[in-house]
Amino acid sequence: MYRSHNCGELNASNINTEVTLAGWVQKSRDKGFMNWVDLRDRYGITQLIFDESRTEKSVFELAKTLGREFVIQVKGTVIEREAKNKNIPTGEIEILVSELTILNTALTPPFTIEDETDGGEDIRMKYRYLDIRRNPVKNSLLFRHKVAIEVRKYLSDLDFCEVETPYLIKSTPEGARDFVVPSRMNEGQFYALPQSPQTFKQLLMVGGMDKYFQIVKCFRDEDLRADRQPEFTQIDCEMAFVEQEDILNVFEGLTRHLLKEIKGIEVEKFPRITYEYAMKTYGNDKPDIRFGMKFGELNEFAQHKEFSVFNAAELVVGIAVPGAGNYTRKEIDGLIDWVKRPQVGASGMVYVKCNEDGTFKSSVDKFYDQDDLANWAKATEANPGDMIFVLSGPANKTRAQLSALRMELATRLGLRNPEEFAPLWVVDFPLLELDEESGRYHAMHHPFTSPKPEDMALLETEPGKVRANAYDMVLNGNEIGGGSIRIHDKATQQLMFKYLGFTEEEAKAQFGFLMDAFQFGAPPHGGLAFGLDRLVAILGGQETIRDFIAFPKNNAGRDVMIDAPAAIDETQLKELHIKVDLV
Ligand code: AMO
Repeated sequence: MYRSHNCGELNASNINTEVTLAGWVQKSRDKGFMNWVDLRDRYGITQLIFDESRTEKSVFELAKTLGREFVIQVKGTVIEREAKNKNIPTGEIEILVSELTILNTALTPPFTIEDETDGGEDIRMKYRYLDIRRNPVKNSLLFRHKVAIEVRKYLSDLDFCEVETPYLIKSTPEGARDFVVPSRMNEGQFYALPQSPQTFKQLLMVGGMDKYFQIVKCFRDEDLRADRQPEFTQIDCEMAFVEQEDILNVFEGLTRHLLKEIKGIEVEKFPRITYEYAMKTYGNDKPDIRFGMKFGELNEFAQHKEFSVFNAAELVVGIAVPGAGNYTRKEIDGLIDWVKRPQVGASGMVYVKCNEDGTFKSSVDKFYDQDDLANWAKATEANPGDMIFVLSGPANKTRAQLSALRMELATRLGLRNPEEFAPLWVVDFPLLELDEESGRYHAMHHPFTSPKPEDMALLETEPGKVRANAYDMVLNGNEIGGGSIRIHDKATQQLMFKYLGFTEEEAKAQFGFLMDAFQFGAPPHGGLAFGLDRLVAILGGQETIRDFIAFPKNNAGRDVMIDAPAAIDETQLKELHIKVDLV
């Protein structure tokens, strides 16, 4: 038996017990005649004491050779500590060691294994197994496990069945590039790793599995950001014989359950807003609604005066920033520079100070009188003491710019409290999105999404206006899940592929299996997928998903620990019928 207890569980009630512990040496304090060692494992830290007068000489001497991160086993007696540490559960006791075994030595770790480490991101990723010994990383993994267990419990209780789907498949179009895997047995042919199990879960519905879920790896070769990894995990779900309302209810229930079980927070019914409302009001389809600063459209009050910049703009739109009326000229100039950075791309910004006495002072006083500015204040719901910032230009671009400013100001003003949770549904997404480069429409969610029946007629005339039965769940400004009601008949699916620019042959070659299946009694169905990494990170009060993944990739898509991707040898390439010409 390596251990009778773990390093986090002994306390005053165990005094005089004989115990065996095993773990890593966190640190030792050698006072000559007395040597204290902090022994650490996953569960905590227990103090060991080696005392010249009470410990056998060989054990006492051996203890002096212990280095950081040595793996040891000790036998000893639990005794009361003289100097108690109220901050840890084991702080009232220590172990007077009688036997010490060094199970393994360790090199000096390249960074300190402490909550606050001296190791930078790169070195911690290279030695991720050491990083995992640190509380912040370890706790994130334990937290993720707890969320996953709650998800499984909740969905299983509702009769959802977890089914595994294959990883070696044919490409599913979810909008990113595929990772591909060459087939040795089929020369010149490739599998694709799934961007999601989308088509398989639909086939499970045809198979009568009625309520499916899977906690599943997905692979997308896309540019990486804080909330994106090339391989990530979805809580993927599908249900048959349901309408949008049923799906929203089930997964709102799941999210409410998680907030309650994991965070101890009760949330009211989630607000639902349409995509159109989200874009007009927040300039964004994943709005953070923990704070206001809703957009006020000002065309009506700002155009047809002498200010040519606004007159020429498609949209003039502003936000009222609470309590920012006392910003200095320097602060305002700083913000103007901020919106002019290429990442945001505004050409300039107008501001209006809302004075406490109800008057206004703006950067465009030359063109607008107090009545005009009062209208702006009304449209942006500004109060005395606020500052209104106004941008103008092409509608979509300007909304995106103001949205970036809104988020930046909220962060600066401390309005994005990570321990406050404001979930919502965004519904009625457009079915199609115009790709400005190619001039072609592509599916905004994916090509299996059902148009709203009442909008079907618009497909021929105004495809951009057709709404889909598609929805996203948004939490604190992050898209944590999305899904749709699917097309379940061959004719509509064929029509959809046609609108997406597939020839009949292409559609058949790529998705013939799905359309065939639709002819054998496909039930009405729909579903959604949550991003587990994102959900866990946000519940954990963060937005960087890397911290919640045991072995993540860096921003260049590399695993720096195992050094992947890497070249493969000539024989392997030959077997795979691959010729590499590197230039
Ligand atoms: P979607 O593409 O919206 O839908 O993905 C669902 C959720 O997965 C998460 N996500 C990611 N998380 C980390 N890294 C990434 N690269 C990444 N990409 C997506 C997001 C997102 O909301 N098959 C559909 C679902 C359906 O229709 O049922 C799908 O995959 O949180």
